Amino acid sequence: MRTNLSIFTCIECKKEYDIAEIRYRCDCGDLLEVIHDLDTCISKADNWKASLDGRMGETAFHRYQDILFPALPEASIISLQEGNTPLYDVSHAFPDFGKLKLKHEGMNPTLSFKDRGMVAGVSWANHLGYRKVICASTGDTSAAMAAYAGATPDMKGYVLLPVGKISPEQLAQAITYGALTVGIESDFDGCMKLVQKLTEKHNIYLLNSMNSVRIEGQKAIGIETLHQLDWKVPEWFVIPVGNAGNISALGKGLRELNDLGIIDKVPRLAGVQTIGASPLYESYKNGYADLIAQKAQPTKASAIQIGDPVSFKKAVRELKHFNGVVEAVSETELMDWKAQIDRLGISICPNSAVAVAGAMKLMDNGVIKKQDNVVIILTAHGGKFSNTAVTYHSDKANQFANQMFTIKPSIDELERTLEL
Ligand code: F0G
Repeated sequence: MRTNLSIFTCIECKKEYDIAEIRYRCDCGDLLEVIHDLDTCISKADNWKASLDGRMGETAFHRYQDILFPALPEASIISLQEGNTPLYDVSHAFPDFGKLKLKHEGMNPTLSFKDRGMVAGVSWANHLGYRKVICASTGDTSAAMAAYAGATPDMKGYVLLPVGKISPEQLAQAITYGALTVGIESDFDGCMKLVQKLTEKHNIYLLNSMNSVRIEGQKAIGIETLHQLDWKVPEWFVIPVGNAGNISALGKGLRELNDLGIIDKVPRLAGVQTIGASPLYESYKNGYADLIAQKAQPTKASAIQIGDPVSFKKAVRELKHFNGVVEAVSETELMDWKAQIDRLGISICPNSAVAVAGAMKLMDNGVIKKQDNVVIILTAHGGKFSNTAVTYHSDKANQFANQMFTIKPSIDELERTLEL
């Protein structure tokens, strides 16, 4: 029985709960995290590292399960072959960095990093015997949850979306994967409040990242990246921040690798938000002051239009531990950087571009030093945001616009257009 290898612990009062309990918060009201008996699971770091080489054909969740979520029984796992995403080296295009690498989580089955958390979350719901799962979402959690619920026999997904605030592709994902999809006339924060109230009353499993089981799956992003780097730790990880679950997962995974002696130094973390939806940035600027919830302003990075991030406290803890920084970027900065990365053949979403723009700003400001090795986490694929991209490129006022030409079917006109 491996289920005794993991427990819930309150991040504030440290009270412990059985992992089989259905709970998303401590009795004191604070967030929970899952703590594993990692010394039992991975007794010798070198042996564990060496054992991974023979497991490259497996999904990332299986390969790293000893550190991700050892209590989850194999028979309950629902996988869509997530993980094993590319780590692109783009140093040739950015000579000021030592090495600049892009971890493209948009290359997951539902085109975002959310699949990493959902393999843990939906599998755990499956293990617990739940047949109904629910989330509020800005479009990517809902896509992933709908897909993994669809992949589970007799499981139904329920999705709450802020109406008009997600892309058509993201909406299509929730609907086509078969989730009962409800548009709420509110923003993400409003949807999140509703989903919490509903799951207090009804027997539906909540799969937002306030469910700490999801965070365990998302740790795989950082762990897999370091494995790809042969455990050589870069100076920086840069990541976009919305509800703050992913930066918390990145930090927790790195801490655990360090505690186990799998890595011998730690990177710094940089979280990046948009200027109009920047509660973590405002806190950071004020010495990590308490969260002041914002009314998040519309942004092209609609997946991170979040003013009241649920995992705020976890994010602050990780940022402090990893000597982190938080940056905020404008709409022009993020869209111009999206265009420049797309052009390298790497299609990214506006939310990922927030992290790229943030990394460039931190480099310009001297926070990221010239020749630092940097990994930027790209969180979703550009194909989820085609309207945003076409609108940008249709307007020649935009610095990197690549406008389409429309002509009559005439060879002369074609030659003129191609300047031949
Ligand atoms: N990037 C993308 C593409 C996202 O979808 C999200 C979050 C983030 C970054 C931020 O991650 O919330 O853990 O800080 N999307 C959630 C959703 C909120 O509902 O899809 P975070």
